[in-house]
Amino acid sequence: MTFDVARIRKDFPILDRQIRGGHPLVYLDSANTSQKPRQVLDTLADFYERHNANIHRASHQLGEEATEAYEGARIKAGRFIGARDETEIVFTKNITEAINLVAYSMSNATAAGPGRFSLGPGDEIVITEMEHHSNIVPWQLLCQRTGATLRWFGVTPDGRLDTSNIGDLITERTRLVSLVHQSNVLGTINPVRMVADAAHAAGALVLVDAAQSVPHMPVDVTELGADFLGFTSHKMCGPTGIGVLWARRELLDEMPPFLGGGEMIESVWMDRTTFSAPPHKFEAGTMPIAQAVGLGAAIDYLGEIGFDAMRAHELQLIEHALEVLTPIEGVRILGPTKAADRGSAFSFTVADVHPHDVSQVLDDLGIAVRAGHHCAWPLHRAFGVQSSTRASFYLYNTREEADALADGIREAQRFFARR
Ligand SMILES: Cc1ncc(COP(=O)(O)O)c(C=O)c1O
Repeated sequence: MTFDVARIRKDFPILDRQIRGGHPLVYLDSANTSQKPRQVLDTLADFYERHNANIHRASHQLGEEATEAYEGARIKAGRFIGARDETEIVFTKNITEAINLVAYSMSNATAAGPGRFSLGPGDEIVITEMEHHSNIVPWQLLCQRTGATLRWFGVTPDGRLDTSNIGDLITERTRLVSLVHQSNVLGTINPVRMVADAAHAAGALVLVDAAQSVPHMPVDVTELGADFLGFTSHKMCGPTGIGVLWARRELLDEMPPFLGGGEMIESVWMDRTTFSAPPHKFEAGTMPIAQAVGLGAAIDYLGEIGFDAMRAHELQLIEHALEVLTPIEGVRILGPTKAADRGSAFSFTVADVHPHDVSQVLDDLGIAVRAGHHCAWPLHRAFGVQSSTRASFYLYNTREEADALADGIREAQRFFARR
């Protein structure tokens, strides 16, 4: 299918809005959360209007329909990332919960005694300085609870993963390596397979944070060499409130549960419980049912557009954004400046203008970006900056919107830096 951005924009009703006194909305904050196409919105409305019921436990037609729709979304999510089957897909509320699920399961295993997932002093978890806080803090907490040590890869000045000391970092002490596939700040696409091969050679497990890659490129868990992989629906045209943890089935079989409650049990006595088989063992309580169904619709939507066509469109946008942003005096783009090496999130600083002021001027012009540390404070420190402005492009953005961004930055410079 050929990629027609004008036609795609028609799928997103919000893009017709005029804001801040009549400016057409220029939405450049999709790395934060994406907009939702009509197909996903209609699926959510249809679920609530026609099929709404609780799943797995209701013995009536609506209960059956809701269960089928929810489990159908699990099958779609599994196929989408190349899972062996749908039992490898655990629904969570977002990727943050998916990562915490693994970390808490490991500390529950530690409390239960020695085993594959238990940790102690001398064991190491390896992450990178490029991580979102959601792939840093859970591991810090896990290390505090177990006595394990947290280590990390650094970042090169041009915003790539510094793997020069991989042999020192990944050793027989390493139990888990957890890294981001595509940086939410720099756009960098990391050499996950190379790191995963090194981790596996040392006997460690690998978790991939695919929050920023899954929305933009085909992701296959086997090709990446992942043991665990997480993604989050709201960044890929789906609703908020639903995310995915994929793990190899044999790992899910062995891992102790994270949250306890209804639906994750096989039988309960007053003094003990036995648990359901995965993935249900990890889905306690009433799940975000409609949201899972909406995620299924988002997967269908992206599948119909096709990642090859979408990537080709985004590559043109990235090249154009680099072309119009790089010449602006005082603008420093954090991260790779070669389109092929990066995704479509651009974080930048503007000399003498605070990122919040840049974003305020842009907002006044109807251009939505994010300012701050983008939940990646250590990475900003590594670049010697407090914060940055981030413009992130997605399938519905246009070259003209990149031009509007560049004009807006110049406007901020005129206003604040008197250029
Ligand atoms: C790379 C990356 N990881 C994790 C997250 C956390 O996503 P969520 O808040 O949906 O859990 C984000 C969100 O910005 C992200 O960009």
